[in-house]
Order: sequence, then structure tokens, then C-alpha cells
Amino acid sequence: MEDLAPRHGDLEAIETASRDELAALQLERMKWSLAHAYENVPLFRQRFDDKGVHPFDLKTLADLSKFPFTTKTDLRDNYPFGLFAVPREKIVRIHASSGTTGKPTVVGYTANDIEMWANLAARSIRASGGRPGDIVHIAYGYGLFTGGLGAHYGAEKLGCTVVPVSGGMTERQVTLIQDFKPRVIMVTPSYLLAILDEFRRQGLDPRESSLATGIFGAEPWTNAMRLEIEEAFDMHAVDIYGLSEVLGPGVANECVETKDGLHVWEDHFYPEIIDPETGEVLPDGEVGELVFTTLTKEGLPMVRYRTRDLTRLLPGTARSMRRIEKITGRSDDMIILRGVNVFPTQIEEQILKCGGLSPHFQIELHKKERLDVMTVRVEASPDCASGEDRKASAAELSHHIKSVIGVSARIDVTEPGQVERSAGKAKRVVDNRPKE
Ligand code: DLL
Repeated sequence: MEDLAPRHGDLEAIETASRDELAALQLERMKWSLAHAYENVPLFRQRFDDKGVHPFDLKTLADLSKFPFTTKTDLRDNYPFGLFAVPREKIVRIHASSGTTGKPTVVGYTANDIEMWANLAARSIRASGGRPGDIVHIAYGYGLFTGGLGAHYGAEKLGCTVVPVSGGMTERQVTLIQDFKPRVIMVTPSYLLAILDEFRRQGLDPRESSLATGIFGAEPWTNAMRLEIEEAFDMHAVDIYGLSEVLGPGVANECVETKDGLHVWEDHFYPEIIDPETGEVLPDGEVGELVFTTLTKEGLPMVRYRTRDLTRLLPGTARSMRRIEKITGRSDDMIILRGVNVFPTQIEEQILKCGGLSPHFQIELHKKERLDVMTVRVEASPDCASGEDRKASAAELSHHIKSVIGVSARIDVTEPGQVERSAGKAKRVVDNRPKE
């Protein structure tokens, strides 16, 4: 793989600033952001008043813990524009997350917000090894989803040639990669696997493609998957994080030279990890729910937004900003199987350890005699065709899941192509248990 480490002078000054400088900037910006939220959004004013706190009470960054949380429900309850902190005319862009139940959550950006987002997406692409002049193939969906347009503005800002393909039409994705020769691809990791299959179906060697780095996010994926992708394409695989309510892609990103977790762009977002049960702030290094306070957003400031994503905060390495460990999953995706907590990423890790299996999988849950049963449907790899081989792979996977995760799972090894593909985020869990 190509050495894509940043060259001298590539980084912004803040990326290597001292922690003291960074903290001073954060405090100044946090004071502004809390005041902006309090003065312009009735919900924040009421919540602060109910808790007896005022933006003036923030004297240190740690004082943030006195302020109330914000949740997705607050966005839904104020649908569509009720949390905007500027007159609607100042909002130049709307995005929304589809939401599986009820109304979507709607978010809005001012012109300055879009500029900040483009700068952070550009910083993220650069951290991933992208450079001005690169061709960037964007296969994140364009539209209300933030992935496509967020990546697009960032790549343009960095000075790249953008190919705005969006998701879907997998055959054409491969043709465009072969013909335009992009160095960078931005796509969900699960859709990249569909593109990989299509390369092979067309008899092309993905290792011979022009791709030097891939920037993958919008869903959880494991270090085992990173190795699988890097090996298949002979390219770097780097993690990007974001969420509609805070900022689309570009809240945190891995650095290609270390790939040791995602640096949170702390000059614009203040992260905390809390105990999801008690709401108490946990020290760095402990696993809990990730919470963000925006420091510079005008249109939709967020105060202590509960992401439901589980991870921990670690000190900076390649940059001054702290890192979040690769996200294990969302608390909403956690399966509780006879008392044991299981995340789809844990299953992914075990699948990738086994011979004869492909990384396409889905977990199905149903009830049998009042007990939860988990079935892992996973496709055989094309070289694992015989019934005997598939049986052996199933036995191996079942053994790994039992011994590492501690639960029993039924394993259904299917023909290649039997597990539903998605052009965006993969649906990992199908819950067929009757609603209580
Ligand atoms: O997924 C924004 C995005 C687009 C990020 C493209 C990266 C690339 P939402 O649709 O609002 O926004 O979903 C946000 O997706 O709370 C996480 O649960 C999950 N997620 C996003 N990035 C990652 C990641 C976009 N790198 C929700 N690893 C978040 C794990 C991720 N989960």
C-alpha cells in the first residue's frame, strides 16, 4: 500500500496545537454556543431554566456537566424547524434522517455552517490520505441523507475532482472506477463489499484498481473488516464518523498513518462519555454513550446531544484532538440474548475469522417456546461450494460465537448473493420476535 502520511505543512495549525490552546478555544466557543442556544431556542431556554443553570455558569469545560441533555425525541417533538436558532431564511440547507419510526428528524445549516462542514470534511479526507488533485468517487447516497453532499463539499474544498455517483447501480460503479481511476472512494463499508463482489463478477482484480484509500462510515465496522478490505483492494481503509443531528460526515476521522481510532474535531465539537443509565460523565478511557456539544454551529446548535453510540475517549496521537475508539454499535442495536449483550460488530468479527465465509451477513431473531433464538445467516464464499465445507464453516462460526461472545447461535450458511444488499447502511438485524 502507498505511504499516504501527511507531508510537512499539510496540516492546519489547530491539528497539532497544544492541549491548553485547544481547551482555551473550546471554552471560548462553548460559552458562545450555550448563549446562542439559550437566547434563540425556546426549548434550550426552558431546559436551562428548569435546571437552574444559565450560560454564565459555564466557567470551565467541566461545568458543561451541569447542563441538560438533548435527545432525538426533542428534535421529533419540535418537528420540523422548532430547534433552529436562526430565522428560517438564514438556513441554506435542510437534511433529514429517515427514521424507522415516526417523523424524520430534520436538521438545518446556515451558509457558515456549510462552510465549516466543508472544511471539516476536507480535513477528514486529508487525514485519510486524500490530496488536492485526487479524483474522489463518492458512493454515499445524495439527498436528505448527509453522506453524499457532506463528502462532496469536503472533496471540492480540498481541491479534488469529485465524481458524485451516489449509491446503487453497482455495475456502473465498477465501470466508473475502472475508467475514471479515482484514488479515493467514499462509501459505506457494506456497500463497498457489494462493489467488491461486482469487481470479481466482471473478472477484474480489485487490487489492480486505482484506489489508494477508502473513507468508510455511516455504520459500525470492525478492524477485522478493515483488514479484509485492505487486503482485497490493496488500499487503505479509514473510518469517518458523523451524525445528522450534529454534523454529517466529518465530526471525527481516523488518520491514515495510525488507524488507531477517530480523532474528534474538537475545535468544533466537545465530546463527553456518559453512563447511559445514570447520565453521569465518565472519565476518559471508560466505555459509555457518546455525547456532543457543538461549539460553532449557528443553525442548529446542540447542547449535550445523546448519540446512543457506544465508545470511549482516548488521548490524541497523530493529532492533538482526542480519539474515539471504533464504535461498537448503538445502544438501540444491542441484542440482549438470554441476558448477554451482543452487537452485530461482534458477530462480524467472528465471521471474518472463519474460513469459507463471506462478510455478507444478517442476524435474525425469533422466539421459540418463550426463549430468544438468534440465527446468523451468512453467505458462503464462492470457493466454499460443497455441503461438507459449508457445514464445517458453520460449526467453526458457532464455536467462535459461543466461546468468545458466550451465546448460542444457529448458523445458516447460504449461497453467495442470498443476503440482502443495501446501497447505503446495511440492515444487520431482523427482529421477528412478537412485540411485547
Ligand atoms: O450516517 C453521517 C455519515 C455519513 C457518517 C457518511 C459517515 C459517513 P446519520 O444517518 O444521521 O448520519 O446516522 C448517524 O450512524 O449515530 C452512528 O450510529 C452511525 N455511524 C455513523 N458513522 C459511523 C462510523 C450519518 N464511522 C449514525 N462507525 C451515528 C459507526 C457510525 N457508526
